[in-house]
Amino acid sequence: MKHTDIKEIVKSPQEWLGKEVTVCGWVRTSRNSKSVAFVELNDGTCLKNIQIVIDKTEGYKEPRVGMSLKVSGKIVEGRNGTAEINTNPDSITVLGDCPTDYPLQKKGHTLEFLRSVPHLRGRSNTFNAVWRVRSVLADAIHSYFQKNNYIYVNTPLITGSDCEGAGEMFQVTTVGFNPDFKTEEEYYSNDFFGRKAGLSVSGQLEGEVSAMAMGKIYTFGPSFRAENSNTQKHLAEFWHIEPEVAFAELDDVIEIAEDMIKSVIKTFLEKCPDEVDFFEAHFEKGLRKKLEDLISHDFGRVTYTEAIELLKNSGENFVYPVEWGCDLQTEHERYIAEKVFKKAVFVTDYPKEIKSFYMKQNPDGKTVAAVDLLVPEVGEIIGGSEREADYEKLVSAMKERNMNLDLYSDYLDLRKYGSVPHGGFGLGFERLIMYTTGMSNIRDVILYPRTVGSIR
Ligand code: 4AD
Repeated sequence: MKHTDIKEIVKSPQEWLGKEVTVCGWVRTSRNSKSVAFVELNDGTCLKNIQIVIDKTEGYKEPRVGMSLKVSGKIVEGRNGTAEINTNPDSITVLGDCPTDYPLQKKGHTLEFLRSVPHLRGRSNTFNAVWRVRSVLADAIHSYFQKNNYIYVNTPLITGSDCEGAGEMFQVTTVGFNPDFKTEEEYYSNDFFGRKAGLSVSGQLEGEVSAMAMGKIYTFGPSFRAENSNTQKHLAEFWHIEPEVAFAELDDVIEIAEDMIKSVIKTFLEKCPDEVDFFEAHFEKGLRKKLEDLISHDFGRVTYTEAIELLKNSGENFVYPVEWGCDLQTEHERYIAEKVFKKAVFVTDYPKEIKSFYMKQNPDGKTVAAVDLLVPEVGEIIGGSEREADYEKLVSAMKERNMNLDLYSDYLDLRKYGSVPHGGFGLGFERLIMYTTGMSNIRDVILYPRTVGSIR
């Protein structure tokens, strides 16, 4: 169906004046005057609609909100230098009718209501903008890594090992357990893979395998978490960007994370000015300044031990008490980022007991070379570390956690054959989108959110 994207016309209206065009889209609003009707048409290529001015001659039928139309006509100058299309009923084809029970009949629906119509919410301004921002950010992330010599790798989604060792995997099975199986071993050996398998919580372990050959790699794909966290920032299926870099220590990992976030947000500000204005007006006052400040200032840096002191001396009444050794909760993370640093901040060197087995053990014997990036409003958006590159130390950390070393033989081999200092991090794509748009619920930045007790 030959037609022009509305984005092409609205971005440089003057160039189109006097031209005959055909556009397609969905009717956002429709109103009448005596001799003409005004229809706002949107095709999803940009936030802006194009106004269609229809001469109400013979054959005119009022287009209803939600209808899909193909419209041909001449571009003329509208109000404030915009482009509009002048046409008559003969040049309008109704591609799809839309009855009056269309749920997005009126503007101003709540986000909760829009969540109940995930298949239609992309036609609201808010979700139209969010989906476009997702696409721009994904492209910016790929471009950043490609430009800096990283190789894009696709790690498996079905795995036989649990990367974080935290037992929060969704199981993948074709055989339901039943009492006929005498033991777990018997059950799993009858299953599809002949052993227990699950959906990967992270591509990191295979990312390390790739980095040990290709030097610098990144993954960009879904990760799955079966944790029972019904919060505004947890999904059971989220998109995960995981760079892994050979010949790198913790400071290098931190430098890469800061550079990547700044580069991606700079691209977002350049490519999505209308969306930034939109989110600023409707969701987060001061959004543009927040993002501009982020790219023009150094991120903060604090050790976990210092962070605990700051929290203990804060005089705040936290729901979760603070003691050295505790995991930082969102309320703690937000206090550090919003009240203490008032900007993005890296927290490093966490107690080894609350972090994963693969993190490099620090000489103090108590902490590991871990890093989380905390940002105001959202909390943690990045988690990473330098990895333990020493075979013996890695094995002892795994034994302390009663892990089955046989399941990790590939991973351990990397420490036998040409081991190098290396590290990386994971960025939660949806959390980045929350931060850049000001959307406060993670369910509103992914097409079909999967959360505890909810799938559609
Ligand atoms: O801190 P996490 O668990 O780290 C890892 O998975 C490491 N293997 C990463 C690495 O070093 N390669 O997760 C990394 C990030 C978090 O900071 C968060 O942004 C996001 O992934 N994330 C989630 N996002 C949405 N819903 C969830 N349930 C998430 N769990 C983690």
